[in-house]
Amino acid sequence: IPRPVLLPSRHGGQPDACRSRELHHGAALAGAADRILLASDASAIIEHTNQVIYLEDDDVACIHEGRLSIHRLSRVMNDGSSDSGIREVHTLRLQLQQIMKGNFAYFMLKEIYEQPESVMNTMRGRLRFDSQEVILGGLKSHMTEIKRCRRLMLIACGTSYHSAVATRQLLEELTELPVVVELASDFLDRQTPVFRDDVGFFISQSGETADTILALRYCKARGALIVGITNTVGSSISRRATAGCTLTPGQRSEWPPPRPTLPDCRSGHDIGSAAAACHHQGSLEVLPEQIKDVLTLDSQIQELAKDLHQKRSLLVMGRGYNFATCLEGALKIKELTYMHSEGIMAGELKHGPLALIDEHMPVVMILTRDRVFPKCMNAMHEVTARGGQPIVMCHRGDTEAAAGSKSCIEVPKTVDCMQVLLNIIPLQLLSYHIAVLRGY
Ligand code: F6R
Repeated sequence: IPRPVLLPSRHGGQPDACRSRELHHGAALAGAADRILLASDASAIIEHTNQVIYLEDDDVACIHEGRLSIHRLSRVMNDGSSDSGIREVHTLRLQLQQIMKGNFAYFMLKEIYEQPESVMNTMRGRLRFDSQEVILGGLKSHMTEIKRCRRLMLIACGTSYHSAVATRQLLEELTELPVVVELASDFLDRQTPVFRDDVGFFISQSGETADTILALRYCKARGALIVGITNTVGSSISRRATAGCTLTPGQRSEWPPPRPTLPDCRSGHDIGSAAAACHHQGSLEVLPEQIKDVLTLDSQIQELAKDLHQKRSLLVMGRGYNFATCLEGALKIKELTYMHSEGIMAGELKHGPLALIDEHMPVVMILTRDRVFPKCMNAMHEVTARGGQPIVMCHRGDTEAAAGSKSCIEVPKTVDCMQVLLNIIPLQLLSYHIAVLRGY
């Protein structure tokens, strides 16, 4: 349920915070506002004001004659904690241009093309390329707890869940801790056992997804450390988490609010060997340029979309890190084009999905080289043996991978764990162009 945002648009004279003692009595904020706007998301009103008050669950807002008052029946919050007593007026740093589509035909296309910048903004202030430091202010004071934990649980829905799938292997390799990836809804359905020495990472772009919030509450009540990873400053998840960071594409922000001291996460136990870390960091430095490079495939992908837009279905197949690419690519295709699409783990091909393959079934196969490349090539041979004519995504100039394909999408190479960040882009563009061609 989207949390309403209250926006007193005013020209001064507003208190910085509203105390719940007053709120319980239903007292109005001092000073009348010239306008008060209500919205489920700040982007709807950023054009008019950047001053917002977030309501807590069960708050009741009353606007009467230009005055706002907030009431509650109980001081006990939904998660069992007592009301902090404060509803602060927050100043949003969101820029209007971040929510406008500019010269792009659609907002989604703008978001696709903004990825070099959003990746750079996410790294800015967190990675120091010269000194090879990783800086995560919002996790610093909890590092000891995290290192000693029993397991890391990554809990999310949809695309955010896919980002957890994409991250699991790297976390396992670098921390040597058990890592479980959970769909929030299923995690709750199963009433999964959670312990005090578990660490739960709650991943959510909006920070407002109901199932993810419920899973967070469930874990918090059982004493696990709660880490929030969201794109939205001030969201429900960011406010309920004990530690975490906000990957707001347009800005850098961490919570608890930015601290002057920063951790060095380079030591072996934290993120694997220093050599591996340097390797990843070097690759991160050139990532924005590589994303720009992939975006130049746009017109080729548009042509591909012309071939595919009248098909009934599209399979996306891969394994290893790129299983996440397949899941996310298929989700984007379904969500934007209303066409059936399925992300298939290539290792599962002979356990059922092979039955779907013939010369009429469009298949995208992810064949960028990594540790599982030979196994992916086996899957490719199984597909072509059944008459399939796969569209292959491979590294630039890889003639072995491209052989036998109907068409080929060539992407630049990065380290295995980050290849997903490049490989997903052609699938985003493909979804976009198919959606436009299908008239959505
Ligand atoms: C699809 C998409 C969704 C969300 C999901 C959870 O493009 O974005 O699958 O990921 O609805 O929302 P968040 O990430 O805000 O928790």
